[in-house]
Amino acid sequence: MGKYPEFLMEHFQNPRNVGEMSNPDGVATVGNASCGDIMQMFIKVNGNRISQATFKTFGCGAAIATSSILTERIKGSTIDEALKISERISKEILSELPKEKIPCFNLATNALKLAIEEYKCKQVGPHQKEESDFLKKAAEKG
Ligand code: FES
Repeated sequence: MGKYPEFLMEHFQNPRNVGEMSNPDGVATVGNASCGDIMQMFIKVNGNRISQATFKTFGCGAAIATSSILTERIKGSTIDEALKISERISKEILSELPKEKIPCFNLATNALKLAIEEYKCKQVGPHQKEESDFLKKAAEKG
């Protein structure tokens, strides 16, 4: 594991926010097609801010470390900020990871996106979301 920077090793050895959450506001499970490992991410949202984020994974050290970092940094952020933080972490971490570990990192970011998506769907209801998406597209076309 010598090819990983110190901050990733630290999160791998002492991962934060590991475990299932009871009554999450958003939850998503994603898989890494290249290895078959899976990741589950849970978020709790309070007044449009992510008050808690946890994860469970059967993934490798890179998946554990990056999920730990992501769940730590999005706590307290709005859901829109969380997506921007996720993009920022991508830029920061992807250059530090060996190429073959990029799909492992993507497990965390993809799971977060889907958990947020699920949260948003619960807020408006699936039919209202479809209608809202349809209206948005129609408005874009003019
Ligand atoms: S090798 Fe499967 S998640 Fe990294």
